[in-house]
Amino acid sequence: MIKLLPLQGAIQEVKTDLIVVNLFEGVDKPGGATRAVDDALGGMISNVIKTGDFRGEKGKTLLLYTFGRIPADRVLVVGLGKKDEFNLEVVREVSAIAAQRARDLGVKKFATIVHGGGSGGLSYFDAAFSTSEGIFLGLYRYRAETKEVEEATIVEFNQGNIETLKQAISDATGIAKGVYLTRDLVNMPANVSTPECLADMAKNLEREYKNVRARIYDRKDMERFGMGAFLAVARGSAIPPRFIVLEYRGDESEKPIVIAGKGITFDSGGISIKPSKDMWKMKFDMAGAAAVLGIIKAAAEIQPPVRIVGLIGATYNMPDGNAYRPGDVVKAMNGKTIEIISTDAEGRLVLADLLSYATEKLNPELIVDFATLTGACIVALGTEIAGLFTEFEDLEKKLLEASKYTNENLWKLPLYPRYKKLIKSDFADIKNSGGAWAGAITAALFLKEFVGENKWAHIDIAGPTWRDEDAPYLPKGATGFGVRLTIEFLKTYKG
Ligand code: BES
Ligand code: MN
Ligand code: ZN
Repeated sequence: MIKLLPLQGAIQEVKTDLIVVNLFEGVDKPGGATRAVDDALGGMISNVIKTGDFRGEKGKTLLLYTFGRIPADRVLVVGLGKKDEFNLEVVREVSAIAAQRARDLGVKKFATIVHGGGSGGLSYFDAAFSTSEGIFLGLYRYRAETKEVEEATIVEFNQGNIETLKQAISDATGIAKGVYLTRDLVNMPANVSTPECLADMAKNLEREYKNVRARIYDRKDMERFGMGAFLAVARGSAIPPRFIVLEYRGDESEKPIVIAGKGITFDSGGISIKPSKDMWKMKFDMAGAAAVLGIIKAAAEIQPPVRIVGLIGATYNMPDGNAYRPGDVVKAMNGKTIEIISTDAEGRLVLADLLSYATEKLNPELIVDFATLTGACIVALGTEIAGLFTEFEDLEKKLLEASKYTNENLWKLPLYPRYKKLIKSDFADIKNSGGAWAGAITAALFLKEFVGENKWAHIDIAGPTWRDEDAPYLPKGATGFGVRLTIEFLKTYKG
């Protein structure tokens, strides 16, 4: 990850490989820092604007060479688009685009102003934070290459903003570390990101941060807890499962905020095996678990005053001679029996025991779970929106606010009680598949059986966890969905 530094000064005086300034669409005479650079360059930028070759459209860039007129070698002007369409998402996008352009040029160091730090109607913190996020998240690569930017500086002229800038950079750095961890784990091949690997990551966090504790449980421990649903899924795998409890103590409150994550390290479907087309993508079926690790890392970095317990259920879902079968009846930790209709509806079985554990052992303030739970949720909401299920208005409101801020999109779907009949079983208390219709809803209704009276929200991240195409600060592959959302939620939760 690159190093990001604050600096008080005038950007046209910074000596570096490249400086980044910006321009709103349709403006003839730049203002603010861009004006100062333009003046120092003898009107080079405004002359290009006059030709009509660069108009400040969103994400378009203009590269100029300074020929010694200012200490920096190059100037990159990035278009901010139309002023009335400007927002934090635009800041993140243009910031990422400029950083990637610098990287493509082979630049090792660059300096930038805060996009939207002057005019644009954003708070200075938000603008500085989003500029920083855009740089980090846009420069992420699973596999580092020879051309990597090493350091970027955010330059602020106004002394009165420097403390805020420092805070924004340090928050964004901590959160980016969490997002990087999550993206790395989800991008990793399934033969590397084993349940034990996830447990090792948890142990690493314990070693690295003094207010983080990790407990790792194996099959025997899970038998002791009575986690018959989770264990059923794990039966068909020669590689053993792990149940991970990962705690961040930012204060001493009795009641923790519990974040549970589905950690299917590969979902073959088991005996109800999946078609082979695109099956490789099922390495991302541990994205909920990876988000929990990223959230704990980010929290340990930025130290919000809350207590978080992360729960991870990590196992492969594989077919073999010992695998669980359709028609089997298993018993979850809370005593409820489950008839297996499809061994491919495995995530809800693992979560059933995590949620039971939270309910029976943790006295939670609230529970949020992240799971790549259903293809049906992608059918309903597509690949850029996660499904939100909750019956608690305050929790819903705060999650939706955090979602608006981070642009990790959530859309509420109903825990429609009449569909409970779809998961009624003739042979057990409940069955693990509700059939063809409303699959995301019946999965959520299944989970609800294991949370008791707790304040709970379920987030189905099957869609937005993975991208097949690049977006400015979401390179294709793992997105790290859930980390930024949860940290923002925690920041505002106590208020
Ligand atoms: N991990 C999958 C859900 C999934 C599918 C996520 C495609 C992302 C892309 C989950 O374990 C699963 O297989 N769900 C089944 C449930 C069905 C058998 C009731 C599904 O969605 O088809
Ligand atoms: Mn499955
Ligand atoms: Zn799955």
